[in-house]
Amino acid sequence: MNVEHLIKQMTLQEKIGQLIQILPSVYSDDHEDVITGPVAQLMKESGITSENRWEIGSVIGINNAAQARYIQSQYLEHNRLQIPLLFMADIIHGHRTIYPVPLAMASSWDIEAIEQMARQSAFEATVSGLHVTFSPMADLTRDARWGRVMEATGEDVWLNGEMAAAFVRGYQGTDLKNEGTLAACVKHFAAYGAPEGGRDYNTVDMSDRELREFYLPAYKRALDEGAKMVMTSFNVVDGIPATVSTYLLRDILRKEWAFDGVTISDWSSIKEVIFHGVAESLADAGRLAMEAGVDIDMMSGAYLNHLEEAIEQKRISVGKLDEAVLRILRLKDELGLFEHPYRGIETMTEQAVHLAPEHRAHARELAEKSIVLLKNEDILPLSNQKIALIGPFITSTDVLGPWAGSGKTEEAIPLIEAFREKGIPFSYSPGSGVEEEVDWEAAVETARQAEVIVLALGEASWMSGEAGSKTDIRLPKTQVDGLRKLAALNIPIVTVLFNGRPLDLRKVERYSTAILEAWYPGTETGHAVYNLLYGHQSPSAKLTMSFPHHVGQMPLRYDALRTGRPADIENADMRYTSKYLDAPNEALFPFGFGMSYAQFDYEQLTLSHHDCGHGDITATVKVSNTSTVEGDEIIQWYIQDQVAKVSRPVKQLKGFNRVTIAPGTSIEVELTISLDMLAYLHPDGSHSADDGYFTLFVGPSSTEGLSAEFALNRVVKEIQHEHD
Ligand code: IFM
Repeated sequence: MNVEHLIKQMTLQEKIGQLIQILPSVYSDDHEDVITGPVAQLMKESGITSENRWEIGSVIGINNAAQARYIQSQYLEHNRLQIPLLFMADIIHGHRTIYPVPLAMASSWDIEAIEQMARQSAFEATVSGLHVTFSPMADLTRDARWGRVMEATGEDVWLNGEMAAAFVRGYQGTDLKNEGTLAACVKHFAAYGAPEGGRDYNTVDMSDRELREFYLPAYKRALDEGAKMVMTSFNVVDGIPATVSTYLLRDILRKEWAFDGVTISDWSSIKEVIFHGVAESLADAGRLAMEAGVDIDMMSGAYLNHLEEAIEQKRISVGKLDEAVLRILRLKDELGLFEHPYRGIETMTEQAVHLAPEHRAHARELAEKSIVLLKNEDILPLSNQKIALIGPFITSTDVLGPWAGSGKTEEAIPLIEAFREKGIPFSYSPGSGVEEEVDWEAAVETARQAEVIVLALGEASWMSGEAGSKTDIRLPKTQVDGLRKLAALNIPIVTVLFNGRPLDLRKVERYSTAILEAWYPGTETGHAVYNLLYGHQSPSAKLTMSFPHHVGQMPLRYDALRTGRPADIENADMRYTSKYLDAPNEALFPFGFGMSYAQFDYEQLTLSHHDCGHGDITATVKVSNTSTVEGDEIIQWYIQDQVAKVSRPVKQLKGFNRVTIAPGTSIEVELTISLDMLAYLHPDGSHSADDGYFTLFVGPSSTEGLSAEFALNRVVKEIQHEHD
């Protein structure tokens, strides 16, 4: 389609229409009656009429093929220029088959498995008629109080970028015209993951260095991978709402990064600029958003109600409008919509694709790779002990987690079902509900005769996700009370946790013999947890967000800068150091931590040479599986810049190897250390590395392993020997 030619035929109203996103319900014949409540209010404010709905550009939230076909066909019957609608939705961790929540799948560190998940999700979503997913969420997160951490991939800037890129490759494939591909919309630009106090939508304030070094790179990585869209965020950055920030949207996104895809506001975020106190009216907010470069207005009514007047009064140039329209038309063209407005639903059926056996198999496999073994005092894997299944999550199907697309809880396999399928005898008692206060006596009685208690505890899925911020990140009190009562029986307790954020697990850790952090594993929950409990798979996942001792440590990150008064563990009584009086500085379970049924030993860290100024250094380490079971290990490489022009993190992840090691065997893995890995943002804005010394760490987590020193343009004799 020649979109440049097409735009010349469009009226002003038709152009503005392309910039509007609305709900599918406006295409119901009696649309004015069917919409109720806050949505009705929003639609009224949006200025949608029976006539102008045929000029709108995109629809948010369709979820099945029949709906997509009906709306597109109605629309094309009425749309003068036959410009098809774009259908967008939040396909975050699956469409009908639900995979682990993103924070969980990040714990797999399995980039290919994540890409495959996105490919399968895109396939399922396109057969329901969707064209764009509001994913990946590339927001860096360090504060477990924020409910949306479950939707992100964690606290490391580089790893987030690798994962965001995998999502994009999986959704988009190599050509958006191919069947089963979805355009990816990276969100939330920018720094949505750093709200003050962990309270959703709250102020974000950080230095430009912090923004550019830690928060922006993952969005950029996703865009470099070809993501077609960017969604703005609700928060302010440096006092300016991100949705109207010309610094973020024009200077960085368009100019520095040369992004030429489509931008979209978050839901009504243009209108919220008024509540931020930065616009006087919706018209004002719309003008600011347009000036900043927001192409599509999601559900605020600002563009539909006020853009025409702003353009007529020359407060917004037609040039700016045309640029936005062209970008949207180009996306429709890239998706092949002009030739195939029923793309995805022409040749395939939902029945054939949704919950396909290979999708369920991958959901199970990814769940197994996502569940983190946090503690194991020689009780797991289970064998043929007498089992009591206790706790609210034994039978719960609330295991899909927030943003579960078109997933149905009744299609999720609860833990109890897997035990039944396998014919494992057990006794069962729920103990309590998620929050309901009960005395747990029935559960204690049930557990009394068992040899092992499998205790499934957690948060209801509404307790995390959007607007799911909390100040107390412990499990609900009744569940902890139950755990304590069960612990008095002196029977080993294997606690399996279902939740969407790092929790304060001090008490759980104290009273449990083993802990499996299952997160929300998705449709295949029961099978995946069962397979790990019984050792059909060995746990391999490693945390990508630190678990604190206490909520008061938030925000918490493994890659913190050094302080002028570092806490000295040897001299814990020294007062004037940077520490808490009532909790450790460190995480209870740090970034990168996760156990296995196998045992891995690290040795022989060697470097090809010691000066990166003489070319890339190859670091090699030998990792042996000294146990009798096969296991996957995630070998992590970190670097510390010892002295730089600005304070640098204590260490930063620079690479990892996810490997399978047979029992009794060893493997060697490598990291190539290049100059680029040592570079950082200098005070003068340049991105380069300083001459000097660096420490390389390799190990099974951010806090354990071997280290060695190397240099950049410094004499080798100053290098200290490797130590382990
Ligand atoms: O994509 C989401 C976003 O993450 C939060 N607000 C609503 C959008 C559309 O559903």
